[in-house]
Amino acid sequence: MKFISTIVLALVLGSSGSAFADAAAGQSAYAAKGCIGCHGAGGKSMVPTYPSLAGKDAAFVKKNLTDFRSGARDNAVMKAMAAPLSDADIDNLAAYIDTLK
Ligand code: HEC
Repeated sequence: MKFISTIVLALVLGSSGSAFADAAAGQSAYAAKGCIGCHGAGGKSMVPTYPSLAGKDAAFVKKNLTDFRSGARDNAVMKAMAAPLSDADIDNLAAYIDTLK
């Protein structure tokens, strides 16, 4: 039993990047926080200057949102978008974007 729970836990951690990430909350935030306006419905951008997010995994999204927020990745537009995000917001958005193909 313990062995099985360890595998389940590993799958949960591995797929979302965080045990507490909530893809449904991330989907709501993606619309409510305006991401959808630039990055498009389902993460498929219609505007060449805004990268599509579909196909990008949770770890990539989490790292880049954290870096935009801190300024480690320098982009004025995304810094403004990332500044108000909490760590939980970032985990949830990353979990949602990870589901987009
Ligand atoms: C006003 C338009 C705009 C909005 C709104 C916006 N973004 Fe972005 N986003 C951009 C641009 C432009 C870039 C590319 C920045 C660069 O060149 O470094 C980007 C880059 C990104 C990247 C990195 C993609 C890559 O391939 O490197 C992620 C992840 C991302 N945005 C997530 C989000 C999330 C999540 C939200 C909502 C909280 C959001 N963005 C809202 C314009 C926007």
